[in-house]
Amino acid sequence: MPLTYVSMRGAASPLLLSAAAAVVMLGAAEAHGSAEAASGNGAVRGVDQSVFGQLPDGRQVDVYRFINANGIEMRVTNYGGIILSLKTPDVRGEFDDIVLGFDSLEDYLSDEYRQANPYFGALIGRYGNRIAGGQFSLDGETYSLATNDGDNHLHGGRQGFDRVLWQAEPFENDDGAGLILRYTSEDGEEGYPGRLEAEVTYTLTDSDELIVDYRAATDKATPVNLTQHSYFNLEGEGGGSILDHHLTINADAFTPVDETLIPTGEIRPVAGTPFDFTQPTPIGERIEQDNEQLTFGKGYDHNFVLAEQAASPSEPVLAARVWEPESGRLLEIATTEPAIQFYSGNFLAGDLTGKRGQAYEHRSGFALETQHYPDSPNQADFPSTILEPGETYRSRTIYRFSAQETAGS
Ligand code: BGC
Repeated sequence: MPLTYVSMRGAASPLLLSAAAAVVMLGAAEAHGSAEAASGNGAVRGVDQSVFGQLPDGRQVDVYRFINANGIEMRVTNYGGIILSLKTPDVRGEFDDIVLGFDSLEDYLSDEYRQANPYFGALIGRYGNRIAGGQFSLDGETYSLATNDGDNHLHGGRQGFDRVLWQAEPFENDDGAGLILRYTSEDGEEGYPGRLEAEVTYTLTDSDELIVDYRAATDKATPVNLTQHSYFNLEGEGGGSILDHHLTINADAFTPVDETLIPTGEIRPVAGTPFDFTQPTPIGERIEQDNEQLTFGKGYDHNFVLAEQAASPSEPVLAARVWEPESGRLLEIATTEPAIQFYSGNFLAGDLTGKRGQAYEHRSGFALETQHYPDSPNQADFPSTILEPGETYRSRTIYRFSAQETAGS
């Protein structure tokens, strides 16, 4: 694993960025339609903002479009901090949108989507992944959380950070452009203790990276585990199965789960199992093997314990890489988190129709969610996710986009 991200060019703390956030070109560009002409080779570097729609209570939702110096284009909305689209070049220089999602706010608000709730592209909080029975004890008190995945709590509950309107502040600097998103989660929201002030900064750099910086502070001890839930298909969203993507995860162990996807507490070596992705391996190569863990997950839906831990919350280390043979696109993910959830899109069932009018079929997108381990508030041996008053939660993940002819290593 040669790639270690030690210095983040221009990636000042978002707290600094918010002070420096300045030049924003608020063009009259449409949320849809104009993106095609502006991205790709003829791209104009910059940021623009337009209206995405309205929430049922009348609040306006915006969409921000960022184009970097090489034509990579990302669109983000302040509803759920959702990454709506991400266009990157393949090995021939052809741009395509590599994340699953929808064109309109109505699609994200629809009953059909709310029921399926795949969390396309969204920010996840206050706690990414599952908490068993929706319960945990902290400082002698037991807290009951909203349960939204059988008896378990998943991804922050019924109205997680993926379904709230964030305050947004776009910025542009010498290294790229991005968006600072802020949301205050009140004491008791979804059952969690403490008023949590969360801040997430997306920065699309001219070195073809998306940097996601997370910060949070609380007034009472509370679990916090923030992540990003984009589903990628490096051949282009709607482009079919992800089973031929070659995946590498820098993990020698994973946390096996029970049938409700709660970790048993064991840290199990990946060696000799279908969970060994220490060398580039097609996702589909072993996914149908007769294996209890694959049965529980209906494929891969597991937390991988990263072999290399970040030395500081601002120095991410390479966690995973994914290469797609048709397009040659390569995605590298570095993080300061101790783990990553690899979810192979097992619950996609073809009943949601995406941006190109294509149904999102079973395993047509994958998520790699940088995180602490699932159910940590109930597992004393897992790294703690408890944020205390006076502390600052900090986490950074970098997605790096490139393309090459061969898988590499
Ligand atoms: C979880 C899956 C879940 C999916 C969408 C993933 O992060 O691991 O189990 O189905 O999110 O909800």
